[in-house]
Amino acid sequence: MAPVAPSLRILVIGSGLAGLIAAVRATDAGHSVTLVTKQGLPDSNTRYAQGGIAAAMFPDDSVDLHILDTLRAGAGLCDPAAVEVLCGEGPARVRDLIRFGVDFDKDDSGVTRGLEAAHSRSRVLHAGGDATGAAIEAALVSTVRERAARSAQTPGIPRVQLREHTMLVDLLVAGDRVTGASLLGPDGLVHRADADAVILATGGAGSLFPHTTNPALATGDGVAAAWRAGAAIADLEFYQFHPTALAVPGTPLVSEAVRGEGAVLLNARGERFMLAIHPGAELAPRDIVARSIAREMSAQGGTPVLLDATGLGRELLETRFPTITAACLAAGIDWAVEPIPVAPAAHYWMGGVSTDLWGRTSLPGLYAVGETARTGTHGANRLASNSLLEAAVFADRAVRALGTGQVDADGRRLPPVPASSGTADATVPARAVDGPGAHVDRAELQRLMWDAAGVLRDGDGLAAASAALAGWKHPAPAGQDATPADRVRAVEDANLLDLARVTVASAFAREESRGAHYRADFPESRPELAHSQAWVRPADSDDPFLVLESPERAREAEEAIAC
Ligand code: SIN
Repeated sequence: MAPVAPSLRILVIGSGLAGLIAAVRATDAGHSVTLVTKQGLPDSNTRYAQGGIAAAMFPDDSVDLHILDTLRAGAGLCDPAAVEVLCGEGPARVRDLIRFGVDFDKDDSGVTRGLEAAHSRSRVLHAGGDATGAAIEAALVSTVRERAARSAQTPGIPRVQLREHTMLVDLLVAGDRVTGASLLGPDGLVHRADADAVILATGGAGSLFPHTTNPALATGDGVAAAWRAGAAIADLEFYQFHPTALAVPGTPLVSEAVRGEGAVLLNARGERFMLAIHPGAELAPRDIVARSIAREMSAQGGTPVLLDATGLGRELLETRFPTITAACLAAGIDWAVEPIPVAPAAHYWMGGVSTDLWGRTSLPGLYAVGETARTGTHGANRLASNSLLEAAVFADRAVRALGTGQVDADGRRLPPVPASSGTADATVPARAVDGPGAHVDRAELQRLMWDAAGVLRDGDGLAAASAALAGWKHPAPAGQDATPADRVRAVEDANLLDLARVTVASAFAREESRGAHYRADFPESRPELAHSQAWVRPADSDDPFLVLESPERAREAEEAIAC
């Protein structure tokens, strides 16, 4: 029989799909929830998702086919058990979203579905044409606000407290357990929030790069705080670059679904260059299209390539892609009559805080869900439209695992958590301590990351970047007259510096090319490296970069550290 979980105080940090689902499910389970978010409740990466949410929900599809496509895209680095969970539980979580009020697009035959790269079936549900993320965010925000209001007025039901414009600074750790977080409030002061469990759902870190489809708030706050607290983080070298961002300031996303509908890529000579590169042409796996565009751009002096969607016709473009149509018009382009300039941009982090299949991290009391987590579902290269699905599936599971000790809410025994310390044999020339040089400058850090750790990488560039990053200092402590916004900026810059260092270290250590990680000096995949790399920062060591290569080696290292 399933154990009855006690009512707990849960701190959920982040208000994208993952955080909102975690908050809703935790109140369903009788826990009291404090939901913290850096800006307003609707401000998150989820809101910008266009393509949609992939799930095997149609008669010509199956969970097995979805699993196969996900494993193929992941380039040998997916955890098959995590992929089975994702694809198997995905349809039920999509039905939950419908119950929470998400109105997926329909036509006469029922719910409509799109095709995206590397999917063998059309299985991507969308809403508002290309406004899927915004529709999901709006439905969940309204559910959470309604629960918060009701709980404030109704004694005896689980409390939901919302703390907007409040930023995670650091996790509180007592012994080996996470017991809450320090938070920077809208008043510019740091507050302490105690909790029985903390669920990190702070999204990715597109702001590591100058060109990104993410909003500026994506500064990897949860991953950085987990790292500083000593949690294992993994696979940060796998950053997915979306092939087609509109090449104008702000680099808005131009969904893969546009290519799914038939738009083609052209170089400056008007050639459809993808035809010669991959049998899937414009719908080849995302990393291949992004790299091919980067190479074409380099060959044509850095100018963007063109995406020609004129063949789709004005009516389809305006009804199916209203968000992109508006972005083009804002840039003075009518994409119904002319091709649009596009270039790759940082889009999604496959790596993150290492978790098991229940969102548990290596630190008791700490959970990570959504883009903050490395669950193993995406491997080296995420399949399009699997990210919203992963957020929904694993946020739900994390809540089911809360407070149940070593068994899940269904009474099954949980596997051991990921190891929390590692071997020291793969250190690299980078350190997460303050360097002797200048305080970090965000624009310079972003340029450096783009050049050295962007779409195309090599060992020399990564080593030089590592040395430059090691020389920078964290931001100076905020002075008395600093505004709350200055203080937020300083915490974000510190997070970006820590994460840039570990990302470059991870990319340097992985001497092969696989999925989204491409090394010009190691252009092939190496079968012996087809495993995840986890990193930890031991509390009492001044050498923060340790690689976990296998559980056995982790145990050896734990023993060595204990001695
Ligand atoms: C897109 O619409 O192309 C993005 C979909 C995704 O990244 O999953």
